[in-house]
Amino acid sequence: MFPLFLSLSFFPLIQAQLTTNYYQKTCPKFYDIVRKAVTDKQLSTPTTAGATLRLFFHDCMVGGCDASVLVTSDSFNKAERDAAVNLPLSGDGFDAVARAKGALELECPGIASCADTLAAAAHNLVIAAGGPAFELRLGRKDSLESKATDPENQFPLPTMSMSEVIKIFTSKGFSVQEMVALVGAHTIGLSHCNQFSQRLFKFNKSSDIDPAYNPEYAAGLKKLCENYTKDPSMSAFNDVITPTKFDNMYYKNLRKGMGLLATDSAMFGDSRTRPFVDTYAEDENKFFQDFARAMEKLSVLHVKTGTKGEVRSRCDSFNTLSY
Ligand code: HEM
Ligand SMILES: *[C@@H]1O[C@H](CO)[C@@H](O)[C@H](O)[C@H]1NC(C)=O
Ligand SMILES: *[C@@H]1O[C@H](CO)[C@@H](O)[C@H](O)[C@H]1NC(C)=O
Repeated sequence: MFPLFLSLSFFPLIQAQLTTNYYQKTCPKFYDIVRKAVTDKQLSTPTTAGATLRLFFHDCMVGGCDASVLVTSDSFNKAERDAAVNLPLSGDGFDAVARAKGALELECPGIASCADTLAAAAHNLVIAAGGPAFELRLGRKDSLESKATDPENQFPLPTMSMSEVIKIFTSKGFSVQEMVALVGAHTIGLSHCNQFSQRLFKFNKSSDIDPAYNPEYAAGLKKLCENYTKDPSMSAFNDVITPTKFDNMYYKNLRKGMGLLATDSAMFGDSRTRPFVDTYAEDENKFFQDFARAMEKLSVLHVKTGTKGEVRSRCDSFNTLSY
């Protein structure tokens, strides 16, 4: 009876089993090829790391890490990529994966999935930016569908209350502490002005600027974003102090009123999340450890193995059109 009980309770883990040496025989240079492709791109285009890390987060949060976010829409199917929450995703992340996949197809055609390629790309770019390695398990298959309606209500938005944000993360199996560690990803990358402009212009009747902002920081943002309605590409660094370095500066900034998005400020403002902000601001090693563990968890969310998916030959389209 005992072994049966064990195997039943561990069934979800067994189903999602991936291995760190999945490509050892079939594509031994898998990781090196991905590393070369994405670091080359990162050198010429420094926005690549942030774009790719966010792309991976968006892929995993909706239906698991299965490359469903990479598929482009066609006249029969409006794909996940074209959901409102995914429209701001930077093209640099998609391009990084396409380059890595192109190089992989030359070396070992038909072997490496796009979902694994995206995971390995994000893994590598976090390390390249100075962040920690997380255990990179491989063997994901690529999704057989991708629908624009899938991301509905699955995503944290900067306009949400902390209770709503916590609810989304806990529904995916993350604790509040793991959520705070994961959001430390905002130590790199950019946000467009329209994601935080409501905090700068006409915030409320008593104040134009959100009082949660440090006034000097807000003045700088206001200047930076003054033309954002005319030029929607205007954006600000998530971490204004060390924008391209993966470190714990994000949390130090939060304590000084320099959280860019309303949800960033709320991580410090809310008593449920603030203790973890304090811990990570004071102890970078602890942040790195917890970020790595939470990323490992994110990276295996609802992965598809065996016949539940395919290895796409191009990341932006299914191998066979099934509709
Ligand atoms: C409270 C939860 C979160 C909210 C509300 C949120 C929201 C956002 C928004 C609105 C942007 C700006 C997008 C743009 O204007 O292009 C952004 C950027 C970014 N987010 Fe988050 N995010 C959250 C959590 C996370 C997590 C857990 C990760 C990764 C593990 C992540 C990684 C990133 C990265 C790397 C960027 C920069 C993207 C770039 O440079 O292109 N975010 N986030
Ligand atoms: C404006 O927002 C601040 C901070 O959230 C709040 O303390 C203040 O009461 C608000 N004022 C009005 C008129 O809503
Ligand atoms: C906004 O536009 C004005 C007028 O064209 C220009 O002088 C100013 O430099 C612009 N600001 C930014 C931050 O680009």
